[in-house]
Amino acid sequence: MKISIIYYSMTGHSKKMANTISKELSVSSENIKTNPKLEDVDLLFIISGIYSDKSSPVLIEYVKGLTKRNVKKVALITSSGSGITKPIKVREILENNGIKVLKDEFLYAGGFMFFGGHPNKNDIMNATNFVKETLKSL
Ligand SMILES: Cc1cc2nc3c(=O)[nH]c(=O)nc-3n(C[C@H](O)[C@H](O)[C@H](O)COP(=O)(O)O)c2cc1C
Repeated sequence: MKISIIYYSMTGHSKKMANTISKELSVSSENIKTNPKLEDVDLLFIISGIYSDKSSPVLIEYVKGLTKRNVKKVALITSSGSGITKPIKVREILENNGIKVLKDEFLYAGGFMFFGGHPNKNDIMNATNFVKETLKSL
């Protein structure tokens, strides 16, 4: 099974989270800003933050280019100041493109900028558990 990890990070939280999951799965993570080319991916982790209540336009544009021909399933990992905001538009676009987006998604409080030290040990532990459970559920 081919797993890929991509992230969009304005202030570093999602990048740190992506690096951690990358080590856990021994799969390299790629920055969406570099427009990574994805081929034959069975499970894609998309890790990002929320800005002005939405996903970044950079992420939105990127996911518009994904189809079920290059990505089968997606698992979402998202941080926000509130810790509860979901990347609704990203899910909608992917589903419209025929990609299965797993119902369970991982949300955590990323704080704002460098305040709060997120993702912290607890966030990392919970995200790692989410990744393990996701793989088990497939
Ligand atoms: C410019 C900006 C706007 C933000 N707007 C929101 C927001 O509307 N709602 C929210 O819950 N968090 C908001 N946040 C908090 C981020 O979602 C949170 O810090 C997240 O962890 C950022 O991820 P990143 O460091 O990978 O970019 C905002 C952060 C920034 C920098």
